[in-house]
Amino acid sequence: MDRAVSDLTVDEASAEHAALAKDILAHDERYYAKDAPTVSDAEYDSLRQRLLDLEARFPELITPDSPSQRVGTAPASGFGKVTHARPMLSLGNAFNDDDLRDFVERVRRFLGLGEGESIQLIAEPKIDGLSGSLRYEKGKLVVGATRGDGQVGEDITRNLLTLDDIPEQLEGDKVPEVFEVRGEVYMAKPDFFALNEKQVAAGKAPFANPRNAAAGSLRQLDVEITKSRPLRFFAYAWGEVSALPAASQQGMLDAMAGFGFQVNPETTSCSTVDEALETYRRIEAMRADLPYDIDGVVYKVDRLDWQDRLGMVSRAPRWAIAHKFPAEQATTVLNDIDIQVGRTGSLTPVAKLEPVTVGGVVVSNATLHNEDEIARKDVRIGDTVVVQRAGDVIPQIVRVVEEKRPKDAQPYEFPKLCPVCGSHAEREEGEVVRRCTGGLICEAQRVERLRHFVSRNAFDIDGLGEKQVAAFWEDGRISAPADIFKLEAVESKSDTPLAATEGWGEKSVENLFAAIDARREISLDRFLYALGIRHIGQENARLIAKNYGSLKTLTDAMEEAQAREGDAYQALIDIDGIGPKVADALLAFFAEAHNRDIVDDLLTQVTVDDYEVETTDSPVAGLTVVFTGSLEKMTRSEAKARAEALGAKVAGSVSKKTDLVVAGPGAGSKLKKANDLGVEVVDEDEWLERIRIAPS
Ligand code: IVH
Repeated sequence: MDRAVSDLTVDEASAEHAALAKDILAHDERYYAKDAPTVSDAEYDSLRQRLLDLEARFPELITPDSPSQRVGTAPASGFGKVTHARPMLSLGNAFNDDDLRDFVERVRRFLGLGEGESIQLIAEPKIDGLSGSLRYEKGKLVVGATRGDGQVGEDITRNLLTLDDIPEQLEGDKVPEVFEVRGEVYMAKPDFFALNEKQVAAGKAPFANPRNAAAGSLRQLDVEITKSRPLRFFAYAWGEVSALPAASQQGMLDAMAGFGFQVNPETTSCSTVDEALETYRRIEAMRADLPYDIDGVVYKVDRLDWQDRLGMVSRAPRWAIAHKFPAEQATTVLNDIDIQVGRTGSLTPVAKLEPVTVGGVVVSNATLHNEDEIARKDVRIGDTVVVQRAGDVIPQIVRVVEEKRPKDAQPYEFPKLCPVCGSHAEREEGEVVRRCTGGLICEAQRVERLRHFVSRNAFDIDGLGEKQVAAFWEDGRISAPADIFKLEAVESKSDTPLAATEGWGEKSVENLFAAIDARREISLDRFLYALGIRHIGQENARLIAKNYGSLKTLTDAMEEAQAREGDAYQALIDIDGIGPKVADALLAFFAEAHNRDIVDDLLTQVTVDDYEVETTDSPVAGLTVVFTGSLEKMTRSEAKARAEALGAKVAGSVSKKTDLVVAGPGAGSKLKKANDLGVEVVDEDEWLERIRIAPS
């Protein structure tokens, strides 16, 4: 007898889901491909129903390769992909009043505004749902998409059209030719309770919270299901717009309301930080009474010309910040401490908790960060601990409830050996992280690297997720990245073909190979990110890709820079945002013969595209620019950000590679060097003219 879905923890549900998915796939294969079913239709239906119930309660289990997203053995035609015309951004967080004051000061400094100048802020409740983007052309909805990774989302146009709050045709006669509306899809609390009652009455599992209910209802291949669920939408942002209908955030909200959208009625315009904080407290006080869940307040700089100048950094706007409500907490028992080995060998302690509900979500794992953190909090196995969860971040242990400590609890001793390969685990000077020194002899590191390699922001191969890679590693099919691309060739000669393994069939294997083939071409930044080099996350990968342009240029430069001196090295550390630490990690990677082998081997299988500068029509795209002396029309940070947004590279010092030096009053040695090298020098006005901002 199955346990009630509502009694399961996330981990239990996930384990059961994985087993069910595997079973169902095997049954599908026998039924459709081999025409030899081994279970009755009724038994099969009950397996599927159980899987759907699990997904209803834990929507995070709905992956594109789940049987619920497939018809027969055909892969989820799933949802089509949509590349957002403008990326969908996320938000930086403020956790207290000072963070908000700092935010406003940063804005002031960036824009070079005087103390006396007021910065109008629009405060909006932060709706706890999922964001969507709606593209209207000539007033008609042409595509609706999920956020996805911010660059590419899923096409859920048909689902979104079932929402009453989403017009198919915009109202009014001032609708721009192209208008992308962005906002939050959510489920109101009364609707959520009613839906759960219906679910339970129908013998189905209830949803954990309104956000899960909204997510589970929206991403349905069967649009009828979405239609039967009461989803709503608040508009609060926009993407590509052919002609802005207003010059302020408030004006845009009004315009969107005029086009037929709901905008949040609690939105408040604030002239000072104190007013903004007052609004925060007012909204927090009404949180429980609002008919929908919110998890904070978002402040946005009202003036759009300022928003434009502020731009973004690391995929979050500099002109907005989310002020989160305090995290929700709960008390539970710490049963054990697990050590996970990451792809760079880092040992991360994970608290295994007696499952507990924190703010509507069942938590059974929490991060303990590192060994110092465990020592500082004196966390011991058996302790009763306070856990907290804020939004999407991993749950954390706040403190130990000392009165409840068992008498025999011992201080936790952090392992000095890697729990996976037994190599010494060491801490480098000044580092908090202890790392396994096993490198590629450590299975954990190798598997983690492979998992990283196929992850969403890296190679992102459909149907080849972290789980499958780990399984292929286990059975010896894949031991290095290039093996993924050799899989089909090797399979054709194999005595134990994949198609005959549990969970796979002819069709699913065929789909897998097609998905792998589809990724034989990759952009340079994704490729670099996929290599899993320490300190090279998405942001740094992009910076490096942008600065070197092609893999060949990069690898040549890395060879030249190994001495950690000379022009090539200088050029590397001159990249704004890449310091000696990152440079060192990158050089260390390319210094290792086996890493170069991995790359060379991969290059026999995949093509790495040169980095494309996004704004190719910009007059400064691709140029390496150095700013020196003082600027008068904008701050140094703004000048730098703007140049980068236009596709230029900004360097800190002048060399042969510099194309242009922008010199203001007081310029000294850099100006001299530019003159010596014959590099073109312009003043600030001339620069602004080139980037087409008229000097004022
Ligand atoms: S603005 C360009 N405004 O919060 C700015 N986001 O943590 C991007 N959200 O992905 C978002 N209410 O899903 C904005 N009033 C609001 C919001 C809001 C909820 C969500 C949104 C976004 C996430 C960022």
